[in-house]
Amino acid sequence: MVKGKDALLWDDKGNTYIDAISSWWVSIHGHGNPYIAQKIYEQALRLEHVIFTGFTHEPAVILVERLLPLLPGTFSRIFYSDNGSTAVEVAIKMAVQYWKNVRTTGVDNQRSRKKILALHNSYHGDTFGSMSISERSVFTAAFQDYLFEPIFIDAPNAENIGRLQDLLRRQGEEIACFIYEPLLQGAGGMCVYEAAALDQLLEAAKEQGILCIADEVMTGFGRTGKLFAGDYLRQRADIICLSKGLTGGTLAMGVTAATEKVFDAFLSDDRRKTLFHGHSFTANPLACTAALASLDLLQEEGSESRLRRINEQHTAFAGKLKQYPIVRNVRILGTVIAFEISIGDDGYINPAGLDLTQRALEKGVYLRPLGNTVYIMPPYCITEKEMDQVYTFLVQYIEGKIVTR
Ligand SMILES: Cc1ncc(COP(=O)(O)O)c(C=O)c1O
Repeated sequence: MVKGKDALLWDDKGNTYIDAISSWWVSIHGHGNPYIAQKIYEQALRLEHVIFTGFTHEPAVILVERLLPLLPGTFSRIFYSDNGSTAVEVAIKMAVQYWKNVRTTGVDNQRSRKKILALHNSYHGDTFGSMSISERSVFTAAFQDYLFEPIFIDAPNAENIGRLQDLLRRQGEEIACFIYEPLLQGAGGMCVYEAAALDQLLEAAKEQGILCIADEVMTGFGRTGKLFAGDYLRQRADIICLSKGLTGGTLAMGVTAATEKVFDAFLSDDRRKTLFHGHSFTANPLACTAALASLDLLQEEGSESRLRRINEQHTAFAGKLKQYPIVRNVRILGTVIAFEISIGDDGYINPAGLDLTQRALEKGVYLRPLGNTVYIMPPYCITEKEMDQVYTFLVQYIEGKIVTR
């Protein structure tokens, strides 16, 4: 690829493609946004990078000040890192060390809490910690012997919530933290689950003092129709992980925000209580500036109506999909639509995904299904016409599959 503008990508032969998955869910404002580019350029002339220990800088401070009031909860501190996996890695380390730190100060006389609760079908990243708390799959198989084992539970729903609450009552005091992708599990298969049941589970976790970690790396910044998926929930997380749309998909950055309660467990003259974690590019000023510019765009007038329009188009498309028995389980959350095509076995290694990607490219559309789970997750600037082109391609693909079956 040699160029990008809004929802379009150009390859080196001059062909264009509609980026219908926002380049792995990051480019929320599309490509080549001149406003973000200008802000990055100006910051690059001022201060492109500086070590972020002992020093601070304006873009990092302003980003904290602007981001904190927007987050779904009472977060008061931000830890910067490089990407979604590291945002999660930091969150787990915070939660684990939180329990060590509070035990040694005697603030909390609970038993040692070593277990981590995670959801089946989850995906939290590709580093060892984030792989450990992700569903075991082809992504993790080669590393299985090196992963630690969390307690995996099914995503909560009206049927299983009673059982899950019981489990927390029985084992809650051993559990350090619960990590979840709120409402939409992305790489695990675009699984949508119920806000009401998640609220009940979070409530039960909080009753047991379990730290709740919302992984909003994918769901953050408007993706689910609200600014954060947590905005659909009554219960608040103690820690939240952000990345992807954070910088409008322009530069790599991760954020792990925590409440004052979590922060307080580390605030000490005893240096052993320090969260020893840092990356060379922590709080890179260019990335912070890009994030501020992205927030400007998200908060400008018309932004919400763009998200709504995408959602309405998805809803109309879902209606059309009903006529194809080969299409199963159509779900929509905000700007995301997903469904399964019944070709072969469900799962990531189903070759239908690769086939669909190839056919889509031939029609000027970029899609990248998870096996036979097809989804659209477009940049918010995508036009109605471009959306229609994506839908038209999908209808042709599905009809082609019905004929050739
Ligand atoms: C929910 C979630 N968490 C974490 C990650 C990992 O982010 P990154 O690819 O930036 O390391 C992803 C990536 O897809 C994700 O969807």
